[in-house]
Amino acid sequence: MSAVAIVPLADRPDCVPLLARWHHDEWAGLYEGAWTLEECESELRDHASRRHLPTTLVALEDGRPLGSVSLVREDAPEFRDLGDAWLASLYVLPAARGRGLGKRLVRELVALAAREGLPRLWLFTPEHEAFYAGLGWQRVGEASLHGRRVTLMDIRPQA
Ligand SMILES: CC(C)(COP(=O)(O)OP(=O)(O)OC[C@H]1O[C@@H](n2cnc3c(N)ncnc32)[C@H](O)[C@@H]1OP(=O)(O)O)[C@@H](O)C(=O)NCCC(=O)NCCS
Repeated sequence: MSAVAIVPLADRPDCVPLLARWHHDEWAGLYEGAWTLEECESELRDHASRRHLPTTLVALEDGRPLGSVSLVREDAPEFRDLGDAWLASLYVLPAARGRGLGKRLVRELVALAAREGLPRLWLFTPEHEAFYAGLGWQRVGEASLHGRRVTLMDIRPQA
C-alpha cells in the first residue's frame, strides 16, 4: 500500500468539486436544505485559495483524494459565541475507513492550528466523542443543533 500524504487543498484545487459532493451528501441534512451544493463548493474553493485559517487539508493516496478536514472560524452560527476556531467537516471515504486516516487528519489539523498560534480549537460531534477523546480532545458540554444532541469539545493546540 502506498503512503498517504496530507496536503493543503491549495495544492490540489481540482479536488474541490469531489470534496463538495462528499460533504454535501454527508451533512446537508443537518442544515435542513439551507446549505446548497454550490455554497459548499464555493466555501471549499475559498479554502483552496490559502493555507491558513479558514482552510482545508486533503488526504491523498497515489494522487487520489481519500478524505479531508477543515479549519474554520465558524462551523454553526448557533455556536458562534463559543469560539472562533473550529475543526469541521472531517470526512474519510467509506472504503478507506478504519486505516487511521481520520486520526491523521485530526492530528495534522491540530498541528496546523498550533503553527497558526491558535490558543483553543473547538468542534461539535453528534456521535464521535470517543474518537476525538482518544486524540486528546476534552468534552466541554452538550447542546442541541437542529434537533440533534451534539457534544462540544475543545483542545489547546499548543499544549
Ligand atoms: C469518523 C471518520 C472520519 C473516522 O475515519 P477513519 O479513517 O475510519 O478513522 P480511523 O481509521 O482513524 O479510526 C479511528 C478509530 O475508529 C475506528 N473506526 C472508525 N470507523 C471505522 C470503520 N468504518 N471501520 C473500522 N474501524 C473504524 C478505528 O478502528 C479506530 O479505532 P482504534 O484506534 O481503536 O482502532 C469516518 O468514519 C467518517 O468520515 N465518517 C463520516 C463523517 C463523520 O461522521 N465525520 C465526523 C464528524 S464529527
